[in-house]
Amino acid sequence: MKGLILSGGKGTRLRPITHTAAKQLVPVANKPILYYAIEAMKEAGIVEIAIIIGETGREVREAVGDGSRWGVSITYIEQEAPLGLAHAVKISEGFMQEEPFVMYLGDNLIRGGIFGFVEQFEREKPDSLILLSKVQTPEQFGVAELGEDGVIIALEEKPQHPKSDLALVGVYLFTKEIFKAVNAIAPSKRGELEITDAIQYMIDQKKQVRPHVITGWWKDTGKLSDMLEANRIMLDDIESENLGRLEGNCEIQGRVVIGRDTVLDNCTVRGPAIIGDGCRLTDAFVGPYTSIGNFARISQAEIEHSIILAGCSILDLNGRIVDSLLGKNVEVTRQNTRPRAYRLMLGDNSQISVTN
Ligand code: TTP
Repeated sequence: MKGLILSGGKGTRLRPITHTAAKQLVPVANKPILYYAIEAMKEAGIVEIAIIIGETGREVREAVGDGSRWGVSITYIEQEAPLGLAHAVKISEGFMQEEPFVMYLGDNLIRGGIFGFVEQFEREKPDSLILLSKVQTPEQFGVAELGEDGVIIALEEKPQHPKSDLALVGVYLFTKEIFKAVNAIAPSKRGELEITDAIQYMIDQKKQVRPHVITGWWKDTGKLSDMLEANRIMLDDIESENLGRLEGNCEIQGRVVIGRDTVLDNCTVRGPAIIGDGCRLTDAFVGPYTSIGNFARISQAEIEHSIILAGCSILDLNGRIVDSLLGKNVEVTRQNTRPRAYRLMLGDNSQISVTN
C-alpha cells in the first residue's frame, strides 16, 4: 500500500500566514501539521508516499526532504493549479502503479492515527474505504448516506438537508478503481474535479465503498479557531520535558516542554505549553495551550492560548496576548515616544483587535 498526501492548494482562509507559508507547514504544538500525516502513514506501515505540491512546493520540499527522517520515501508530484482533490489523485496514477493507497489531506489532523482504518481495508478488501466522523453541522461538510447493510449509497457535498450526520474526514483509501472514476468525471461548477463525484461514480458503477467511522477527534485546519483548537488537542498529549535552563524565580506548572538552549528568567509557565529551542523569556507569563516556536524573545509580556511561530519578539507589553497566531519573525513591542499611538506594519489581510 502507498500513500498520497495533498499539500497543494492556496490556504486562503489562513491569510496572511499563508501569503508566505504553506498552510500545511503551520505548526501545531510546534510541529508542522503535515508531519502528523507522514507519521500517521508510517505508523500504519506505509513507507512509499507521494506529496502533491503547488505554489508553496519549494517550502514543502525543504521542510520534508526525502522522508529519511521518518524512515519513509517521499516523491513530490507538482500540481499546476489547485484543480481539485480528484485532480490530485489523477496526477498520481503513475506513482501508484495500480497499488491501493491512502489519500490524506495535508491540512487535516486526526488524533489516534489511521492504523485501524488501514487494517479494516486490508481485512475487508473493498474498492474504497472512507473515513467518516459524526458532526453537529453536517450541512457544512461532504456527507455520506449509508444503506441498510452499512455500505455507502450516496455522497452529498454540503447538502441543505443532510441525510446523516456522518461527514467525510480528509482520509480515504482507494484501490486502482478510483483512477477510472477520476478520469470519467467532469469538473464541478466551481471548476474542480471533486473527490465526492469520483467516489459517487464508483458507487454508481456498483463498486464497494465502505465507511469507517472514527470516534476520536479530527480537524480540517482551515481557520484560526481550528488551528487553536488543534493546538489545544495536541498539547493535551505532550509529556513534560525540560532541555533548557531556568534562572531567577521561575515557576513551571503542569505539563510543559522547554527546548534546547532556551533560557527562562523570572517566568511562570502554566501548561500544557511548549516552548521551542533557543528562546529567551524574561519576566514573562506563558499560559495554558500556548506553543512558542524556536528563537522567540519574550519579555515583560504575557501570552496564553496562542501559536507563535519561530523568531518572534514580544517585548514590554504589560499586557496579555490571547487567542492569537503570530507568523514568523513578528515583532510586538512597546514604544514610549510621543505621540502615544499604535504603530503597525501589517501584511495583507492581517487582523488585530485592540482593547484601548
Ligand atoms: P482545501 O482546504 O479544500 O483548499 P485550500 O488549501 O485551497 O484552502 P482554503 O479553502 O483555505 O483556500 O484543501 C484540502 C487540502 O488539499 C489542502 O491540504 C490543500 C490540498 N489540495 C491540493 O493539494 N490540491 C488541490 O487541488 C486542492 C483543491 C487541495
